[in-house]
Amino acid sequence: MKTDERRLRALKGLKWSKYDKDVLPAWVADMDFAPAPEIVSVIQEMVDLADFGYRYHDVDLLISAWCDWVDRSHGWRPPLDECLTFTSSISALEAAMVLHSEPGDGVVLFSPIYQPFRTAIEQSKRKVVDVYLQGPAWEFDGNRFEDALDSDTRVVLFCQPHNPTGRVYTQKEIDEFAGIVEDHDLLVISDEIWADLTFDGIKHLSLYPNNERLQDRTVTIGSASKAFNLAGARCSVAHIASSTVREELEKFPEHYFGLNSSFGAAATVAAWTVGESWLQEVRIQIEENRNYLHSRINDESSGLSMHLPQATYLAWLDFSNTRLADNPSKRLLEEAKIALEPGSKFGTQCGSYARLNFATSRNILETIADRILKTVNQ
Ligand SMILES: Cc1ncc(COP(=O)(O)O)c(C=O)c1O
Repeated sequence: MKTDERRLRALKGLKWSKYDKDVLPAWVADMDFAPAPEIVSVIQEMVDLADFGYRYHDVDLLISAWCDWVDRSHGWRPPLDECLTFTSSISALEAAMVLHSEPGDGVVLFSPIYQPFRTAIEQSKRKVVDVYLQGPAWEFDGNRFEDALDSDTRVVLFCQPHNPTGRVYTQKEIDEFAGIVEDHDLLVISDEIWADLTFDGIKHLSLYPNNERLQDRTVTIGSASKAFNLAGARCSVAHIASSTVREELEKFPEHYFGLNSSFGAAATVAAWTVGESWLQEVRIQIEENRNYLHSRINDESSGLSMHLPQATYLAWLDFSNTRLADNPSKRLLEEAKIALEPGSKFGTQCGSYARLNFATSRNILETIADRILKTVNQ
């Protein structure tokens, strides 16, 4: 996969425009690879024809394209008539959470976690039930989960594969999770938008088809935004297996949650129908990058450590045994001109961590690793 630094510097997206020119950005979860040529040409065709009017063709195909993709890629088929489109994954998560709980009710998250999960709970005046995951393995801990629950807890926000740790929860972990969820009659909102980026032949396990106890209580969220580098497309699809949430959603008029744009839908449908060979190439490069970064960091006995992610293009770096333990991302921005995501965004207990996005060229990644290790070793 090629990356062109001139193109990257010209982008108006957040990742490359937020910081000064001397900073290398490895923070927000966009890749540095241009999206699949098949996707670009679909949008190019719209631009060439100036086809910017009402155009619902691709919007109408979003759900079936996702269901076919999930069937081909992950071996299960979400029932079409139980799926809905949303303009973002977090919008789907928020809608399901709010419709299944009241202000003051408990909503579980497993931290460290992608920050908008916590914000969604706080802004809707639900109560955050924060279950800490433990490094370095970041495994699901049933005892900790069960201890955190009380009679006001209604919803669990799950992330499979997990951002930021890159864990793919195993069948054993899912089974233990499902038992507790059923015993406490909870709704599970499973954000699976990283499903297509697993490594080492590890299979992504969707929650819904992999434990029957979860089948009437799960909302599964999918999107092309991470695997196909289309965060600007603003298209997500959710399989609402929970009949109670489906009934609540059916009470809203059709346009209440917004309609996808024709550009986003065209790009997303192209991703799920003709994007597969591009994705295979990207997966190889990301896996090589992950291996490179992991050995660089763990071989150089600098005190910095990185757990090997099984999925995503995110490295969850532990700076607690380094001179940067106190707010590493701030120090690295100042001293190394590298922009990472601060660990504290993912959990109050994670101040000595930072998240690094390694979906870039080998050249850029080497420079990022050089600058971080040099600064740590000073
Ligand atoms: C786990 C997870 N969920 C949701 C999102 C955001 O998705 P969207 O832009 O579709 O809301 C991200 C973005 O990185 C993410 O990592």
